[in-house]
Amino acid sequence: MDVFTAIETRRAVKHFEPGENMTNEEINKLLSATILSPTSYNIQHWRFVRISDSLLREQIKEAAWGQSQVTDAAELIVLCADTDAWQTNPERYFSETDEQTRTTLLDMLDSFYRDNKQRQYDETLRSCGIAAQSLMLAAKAMGYDTCPMIGFDQEKVGQLIQLPDGHIISMMITIGKARQPAHPRSGQLPLAEVFIEDRF
Ligand SMILES: Cc1cc2nc3c(=O)[nH]c(=O)nc-3n(C[C@H](O)[C@H](O)[C@H](O)COP(=O)(O)O)c2cc1C
Repeated sequence: MDVFTAIETRRAVKHFEPGENMTNEEINKLLSATILSPTSYNIQHWRFVRISDSLLREQIKEAAWGQSQVTDAAELIVLCADTDAWQTNPERYFSETDEQTRTTLLDMLDSFYRDNKQRQYDETLRSCGIAAQSLMLAAKAMGYDTCPMIGFDQEKVGQLIQLPDGHIISMMITIGKARQPAHPRSGQLPLAEVFIEDRF
C-alpha cells in the first residue's frame, strides 16, 4: 500500500470484529517494521507489551472504562518505554559503528540526558508517538485497523502488566478488523492554521 493511502485511510476504529488474534508471524512483521522508527541517539526505549491473556484483557478493559475495543480487537498492545534506557548499556545503540564514533556518540548521549529527568521523560513520549504511527500505518498496509488509546487508568494498567520501575505507559493500541467504519472525521483544522513559516 502506498504510504499516502495508508495515512489517508488510517482511522481510529472503535468497533472491531471479535475473533482471531493475529498470527505470530504477522505480529513479528508488524513490530519488526515498527522498531525501524527513529529515536534520538538510537535509544529505542519503547517496549511493546502484547496482551494475549484474555482475563488480563478484561481487567484492562475495566481500567479503560469499558471501552469495547480493548477486548474485541484481535490484538491489544500496551506501548511502554524505559526512561532509563539512555544509561542502560548504551553501547548497544552504536554497536555497528567504529569505536571512535561510538565513543563520541556515547559522550554526547550521556551529557544530553544525565541529570535531566524532564528530557529523559519527554524523549520516551517522542519515541513512542513516532512508533505508534509507524505501527498504525504498517497495520493498515497489512489489512488491519487500529485505535490509539489513552482513555484508561494508567496506574491500574501499570499494576496489571507489572510495569517495572523507571518505565512509563505511553498509550495502548488496539489492532483488528473493523466491524464498523470510524466516524466521519470530526473537524480537521485547515492546513493554513497549523502550518507556520519561520516564526509564530
Ligand atoms: C494519544 C491518543 C489517545 C486516544 N485515546 C482514545 C481512547 O481512549 N478512546 C478512543 O476511542 N479513541 C482514542 N483516540 C482516538 C482519537 O479520538 C482519534 O484519533 C481522533 O479523534 C482523530 O480521528 P482519526 O484517528 O480517526 O483520524 C486517541 C488518539 C490518540 C492519538
